[in-house]
This record gives sequence, structure tokens and C-alpha cells, in this order.
Amino acid sequence: MVNSMRSLVGAWLIPVITALSRSTLRSTSTSASSAQFTIPAEADIGAQLIANIDDPQAVNAQSVCPGYKASDVQENLHGFIARLALAGEPCDVYGTDVDALTLTVDYQASSRLNIQILPTFTDAVNSSWFLLSEEFVPRPESGGATNASDLIFSWSNEPSFNFKVVRKATGDVLFDTEGTVLVYENQFIEFCTSLPEEYNLYGLGEHFNQLRLLKDANVTMYTADVGDPIDSNIYGQHPFYLDTRYFKTGNSSERAKRNESNASGQYTSHSHGVFLRNSHGQEVLLRSQRLTWRTLGGGIDLTFYSGPTQADVTKQYQISTVGLPAMQQYSTLGFHQCRWGYNNWSELAEVVANFERFEIPLEYIWTDIDYMHGYRDFENDQHRFSYSEGAKFLKDLHEGGRYYVPIVDAALYIPNPDNASDAYDTYTRGAAADVFIKNPDGSLYIGAVWPGYTVYPDWHHPNATEFWSNELVLWAKNVAYDGVWYDMAEVSSFCVGSCGSGNLTLNPVHPPFLLPGEPGNIVYDYPEYFNVTNATEAASASAGAASQTTSTGSSPSTSTAYLRTTPTPGVRNVNYPPYVINHVQTGHDLSVHAISPNSTHSDGVQEYDVHSLFGHQGLNATYQGLLKVWSGERRPFIIGRSTFAGSGKWAGHWGGDNISKWGSMYFSIAQALSFSLFGIPMFGVDTCGFNGNTDEELCNRWMQLSAFFPFYRNHNVLSAIPQEPYRWASVIEASKAAMQIRYALLPYYYTLFHLAHTTGSTVMRALAWEFPSDPTLAGVDTQFLVGPSIMAIPVLEPQADTVKGVFPGVAHGEVWYDWYTRTVVKAEAGANTTILAPLSHIPVYVRGGSILPLQEPALTTREARNTTWSLLAALGSDGTASGQLYLDDGVSVTPNATLNVDFGASHSSLHITTTGKWKEVNSLANVTVLGVKKASPLVKFNGKQMSTVNYDSTAHILFVGGLQEVTKSGAWAEDWVLEW
Ligand code: NOJ
Repeated sequence: MVNSMRSLVGAWLIPVITALSRSTLRSTSTSASSAQFTIPAEADIGAQLIANIDDPQAVNAQSVCPGYKASDVQENLHGFIARLALAGEPCDVYGTDVDALTLTVDYQASSRLNIQILPTFTDAVNSSWFLLSEEFVPRPESGGATNASDLIFSWSNEPSFNFKVVRKATGDVLFDTEGTVLVYENQFIEFCTSLPEEYNLYGLGEHFNQLRLLKDANVTMYTADVGDPIDSNIYGQHPFYLDTRYFKTGNSSERAKRNESNASGQYTSHSHGVFLRNSHGQEVLLRSQRLTWRTLGGGIDLTFYSGPTQADVTKQYQISTVGLPAMQQYSTLGFHQCRWGYNNWSELAEVVANFERFEIPLEYIWTDIDYMHGYRDFENDQHRFSYSEGAKFLKDLHEGGRYYVPIVDAALYIPNPDNASDAYDTYTRGAAADVFIKNPDGSLYIGAVWPGYTVYPDWHHPNATEFWSNELVLWAKNVAYDGVWYDMAEVSSFCVGSCGSGNLTLNPVHPPFLLPGEPGNIVYDYPEYFNVTNATEAASASAGAASQTTSTGSSPSTSTAYLRTTPTPGVRNVNYPPYVINHVQTGHDLSVHAISPNSTHSDGVQEYDVHSLFGHQGLNATYQGLLKVWSGERRPFIIGRSTFAGSGKWAGHWGGDNISKWGSMYFSIAQALSFSLFGIPMFGVDTCGFNGNTDEELCNRWMQLSAFFPFYRNHNVLSAIPQEPYRWASVIEASKAAMQIRYALLPYYYTLFHLAHTTGSTVMRALAWEFPSDPTLAGVDTQFLVGPSIMAIPVLEPQADTVKGVFPGVAHGEVWYDWYTRTVVKAEAGANTTILAPLSHIPVYVRGGSILPLQEPALTTREARNTTWSLLAALGSDGTASGQLYLDDGVSVTPNATLNVDFGASHSSLHITTTGKWKEVNSLANVTVLGVKKASPLVKFNGKQMSTVNYDSTAHILFVGGLQEVTKSGAWAEDWVLEW
């Protein structure tokens, strides 16, 4: 179990095999590739715990705990407050039971109900209690009236306190704890709800799996530095789910008809959302008609969002609770190229030149930790990435309309006190400001990451954000970077405990595992079917792999006795809590590969209580820093790995260390859609795959798929074969073809981002969200929509030249047009259609009823924004269509001029209405209208007859060209109408 976990964790994380034990940590050892001291692999091995859900000896809290009784109900304008008293002898099953709780039911808004259950006497339990402050994670605002709510809360004391949340309009029970007990202890909270027989739940991240949660899923939430294992906790924590329920229509009792299968029946659906505002390690167990929610502490602060559509739920969640997503700069929607292993500025320049040479769009070039001096944040290696050479490189890059993003890691190097030349100014300033996380005894907590032993900014310290911002500002004086890639903030440490305390004279030290490419960890892995497509290379790779020692080193033996913690009344054991979540790291130990739960913040808060917030707070600090770097004039561009509910207001996210395998590509869609629900629309993955070598076929398909994701970046692990899109002829072709579409659609993407930023709508969408009346779409995650209008059906398997896809809504008159041929797709309702999709072709469709403003594709977004416009109007079956466009300077935090254009088509005419002062100088070249059943030869633009008109009466396509003349002061300079 442990060994197989390690292999999933990421091939590059091979522990260094060493005979050293932790007690001999100071002994000198050398890794094969350097003369540095290597941290022994054992240093990152903790205790061997058995996850509670796997433990045959585990006590079921439901069978031994007494629950609570409610009393003293005091009504108020927004709901009521009541007392909850323990209804029997404490069970103290995984902690100490809290005798007295306060229940607050708050009808916060018509669409939002909040239930808080907190210890009444917080003082008495303070030493063993942590309640999440609003400063870290704000609470949704109170203020609604009980009778105006879409939701009804009811409760009973029989046999112990339980409650229900019901949708008023339908009587549907959304949450029901009846028949279960509330367990509320200092290190363990459990509540359960019943669910319908067939349920559709989404969210509860971050995970790497299919979109709709399985009905036997064990969902662990706790941030972890681990390379995308399936079904485990990974980088972020989002304790939020969407619950979608389908009902047969045409029956007054919708509830009774729920989930009845009737192929010819008509359905409707209602969605609601549930958010648990709690930063502790959590587990949600999905079972038949039951959900059990467990946390390792904190409080119950549960908000219900009534929807009733997914779009409503997502907006309600963002607007009221976690915040609207950051507005992105226009340029960030261009293509990004990255890799671990770009070794110097000239290599970067060569990559950029190659993109130009092959005429593949490139907007941002990234560097990984290779640019750093000894892997230290905010300091460049002056031999390979000197400031002077960098200044020239960046000047040229910027002049060419391109940008640069470097990585910044969460941890900071701590210099070797015995080596005067090892000084690190960032550390010196941070130490002087005293802004680093401590051990419980007040000494510095010293973990280990890439540079060796490291310290960690303490985001609870009042000056930590300022310290971090200042470092970004100082560094920007040397490197004119254009964004930050914020990594390792789960927060990662390559050893258990404050392993650097007393060992600093060894610094810098090598991590306790071989880096990719070091002898013993040569990357030999390739995608599935590589042995078919590249038999000779595959054979030599497999011979290489066989000759490489792949021992996983000294993992703990699986036969060891498990450490089980017995709760001590009133005392918390934060390092080994009595309840063991199914945490992904070795032995399920919370201290493994992260800073320890007992490391301590400046306000006395222990890491145990706020572990999953480190990355979130680091993103905030980075956002504040970038505002300073750019004097508040440019929107911060940040891509972070570790996120929490609400991180979207500062940053985008990439899916972390996936694998160059077909399955990773498939899961990327579900990852992206989940992050749509979490309010982080700027999402993309390591295109072509991170761990392992990619190959031409996978990279071809993946470059095309990711072209439709909001954030589009190719990234690769150290020492794997290069995978820039220009490395293979077919990938060049495929990338260009897909980028042609993406770049033409940039105005559409930008408008979607602006809508997300202002209204909370999503950019990448699941089919089920756009077609809520079709239960057969509830689990679809092999195809997706971008906004309401574009649908992509990618090939997700090797050696295929067709793909099966569904065309939602066709039974009810929905029309889909093929992007390439502009003709209507002939699809059967409710059936899979086989679509031709040879290599380098991604099927893309435009939904009838849409009007898309397009510009010409170009190698940079700056050039693309300087091209003429065209409009693609795809009429729906009723002959109408509509669309929107938002424009501004693409950069400013508060643009001084904006433009909104509304497009509408009906009754053989298309009109636009513009509002705003942004001057769009480029003219309109042409308008293409799809689905025109008949056209008069007389086509008029603002009453003036146009001469460049072509009507294809077979394909029903009307093309009107030569519009530059009539729009020469700008395509959207004034309202106009086109009639045919
Ligand atoms: C881990 C990140 O997930 C990966 O993308 C990066 O290449 C490595 N850290 C090295 O910085």
C-alpha cells in the first residue's frame, strides 16, 4: 500500500537510498551527483498510522456518542439561536466531547441559509480549540429574513438533536441529519445527512478523478504536496459541493418522481450548494443514500446555497462567500511555455525564437527553479541567469509582445552560519522582522525544500505580507517579471519535523530523494502505446528502466504495528490526532512531507488548525506584492498550486504534477470543471504531461485539448525529453490548428473572464450545467463547453481517429454547427455520435443561438488585438442568436475606459448595442450568419446596400464581407444593424 502510493506520487520522487537513520542525520553522505550532504530518506518518514476508514478496530462514533438536545430557542429577525447540550455521557471517541454548543440558524439571504454550531464556552476550551477567524476566511454576510428564504430549516430532539434543510418551492429535503447523532469533540466533528438514492455530487476538492463523485467515495481534504494520485487529497482544500437532483416534470409531486427512469420522460433539475467553512483536515464519506462529514476540529459553519441552477449556486457561493475571481490580463489568455530545466537566458531565447520560427503563438515563457541562485527565492543565479543578460532578454521579449513568469517557492533558504559567504538577504530581512514560523518552544521551525534547510513565512504575523511584498518589489528591480508562479505552498517540507534545527552548518543540502535525471532516477517512462508507435525507442527505454535500480528505499514496513492515539481529556494531540484521516502521505502521518502540525504561528495558532490555508494566504501576500510591484496599475497574474476556498480572487491554479499518460489528460477536464465550481476559472494543466516522457501522439492531442482551457501552458519535469510543441511536425500542425481557434476566440474568452469576475459565472462548463434538464449528462466529463457557446469533444485515447460525443439538447431543437465546416451537425438525440477526429484535429462546435465576436489569430495577443474583427452568428432553430463582448485595455486593475457590446439577431437582422468609452479602433471585416434559411439578395448595413455578399443556400450560410469601409472608425464605434 505504502510502496504503491509512492510510485503514484510521482516517479521523480525516488528516495535516496542511504543507511543513515534520523539519529545520524549529521553524518556526511553524498548524493551521486553532488558533494552536498543529502538528507537521509528516512528523514521524511513519520509514524505508521492506519487510516480510520481502513481500521478494523475503529470505533464508529455514530454507535457510541450520545448526540445533543436543543433548548432555549431564541428567535430573532434572521432565524434563531439555541443551546445544544450533550444528551448523555461523553463518548470522547476521537477527542474530548464539548458539553455545551450554541446553534445559530441564520437566513442570510433568500438563497442562502447558514448554520453555525460552535462551542458555547470558548474560553474554557480555548487551549484546545481553534475557531477560524474572519480575518483568514470571511463569513458570508448575515441579513436576510426567515420568511423570504428559498430554504426552510427545521429541527427535532427525537431521539437527539437533528435538523433538516428543505427547498421551500418543492418540499425536497436537501439535508437531513435524522437518524444520526451529532458528534462534537475538540479534535473530531461528525455529522451525517441522508441523500437521495441516485445522487449527483460534485466538488469537495482538490482531487484528481472524474467529475461526478462516486457513490462509495472517501474524499479526504488536506493540502498535500503530492503528484496527482487518483482519489487522494492533493494540493488544495475546497470543502464545497454541488448537489444536482433531477425530477420528472409534468407531475405535481416532483419529489415522488425523483430519479424515476423513463427514457421518454421530460426532466428538470434543481441544484444546491453546501460549504463547510472549516480549515481542518476533513473527510467526506459517500455511501448509499448517506454522506458523512468529518473534520479534525474547528467548528460547524455550514452554508446552503439554494440555486436552483448550478450557475445560480456558483454565483451565490462566490458573491456571498469566497469572492469573485480575479480579472486576468488579456495577455494571460495566450499560450504559455514552461519546463523544469531551462538552464539559462540563452536557452529561453532559443525557445522563444523557435516558436517564432515555426510560427506557433507564444505569449509567456516561464522558468522553474533553475533560474535561482541555490534555489533561493528572489535571487537569480548570476552565471546562468544574470540580471544584466536578463534585462536585455526581457527587453527584447517585451518589445516582441511577450512576457516572462518565474517560479517562487513557499519556503526560504536559511544560510549556513559557518559560511560567511552564504548570506541571503531575504532571510536576513525576514529574520529581523521575525516573520517566520516557529517551533512550540519559540525557536525557528526549519524544514527542507529544494535549497536545503528552509524557513517559512508566517502569514499570521502582522508584517509577513509586507515582508513578502517587499521581496517581490526588490527583486522586480533586477528582473522585470510579469507574474508569479507560486509553488510548494501546501506547505511542503521534505522532512518530518524541524529537521534543520541543529543541522544548519550542513546547508545547502540535497533533498532526500533523487532529482529527475540524477543517476538512479533517469526518466524512462513513456505514454501508453509508445511501444506500438515507437517500438525501438520503447524497447531501449524499457531496457534502461530495467537496469535502473528502482528500489523505493526505506519505506516503513507494512507489517509494523500502527500508532494509535488514545484521546486525553482536554488535551489535543495535534501531531497524532486520535482520528486518522486517509491522508495521502506515507503512513497517513500529517507531519510527512509538510511542516509539522505543532509548528506555531505568531498568534499562537498551531499549524494543525490552519495547515490548508498556507498556500491561500501566500497567494494573498503575492497578490498584494504584485500590486506594489506594478504600483496598482496592472492586474496581478499568479498561478498557484495550493489553494483554499476563495483563492480565486487572487490567483489561477494549475493542476500540479500530472503524468504524461492518457488518463492524466482525461482527468484534466474534470479538474478544470471542479475549479469552475470553486470560483477559480483560470485553470490549466501541464499540457503534454509533467512526470515521465511524453510522446508525439499524446502531446498532439493534449496541445489541442488544452487550447480550450482557460489557462494554456505546456510544462515538463526536469530531464524528461523536450516537449515544446515545435518538437514534432504533427504537434506543430495540431497546436497551430487549435491555437487558430483559441486566438480567434480571445475576445470571447476575455468577455467570459470579465463576466466571471463581475457576476461569478463560469468559463469552462460541464454539459450538465448548460443542459440541466438532461439527466444523462450528469456524469459527462469527456467533453465540455467554454462559456455557453463553444463545445469541444477531444480525443482522449491513443490510436484513435474517431471520437464519440453527444450533442446536448438536439431533442429540444438545439442546433450545433461544426466549427470547421460551419454546417449543422446531424446528431441523434440522446445517442453518441461518432465523429471523425484524425490526429491534429479536435472536434469543436458552435451552439446555435450564439453570436461570437472574433479577431484574426496571430503569434501574440498584442498582434491579435490589432486585427480586424468578424462576427460569427450561429442562429438557433428559432432564427435568433445573441452574444456579448467586453473590452478594455486588458491590463489595468481599474480601467478608465471599458466597452460592452450586446449582439442580437432575429427576423433576418443582426444589431449591436454598445455602451462605454473604450475606443476599439479596428474595423469589422465581415459577418457570417449560419442557419439562414433564406436570404434576400439585398443585404443592408445601417440601411446601406452591401456588395460583398455570398449566400450558400445548401449550407444555409450567409457571408457579408467588405464591411471595413462602413466601420472604419471601429467595429463597435456606434450601434448598427445588418439586414438580410
Ligand atoms: C513542483 C511543481 O509542481 C512542478 O511544476 C515544478 O516543476 C517543480 N516543483 C520544481 O519546481
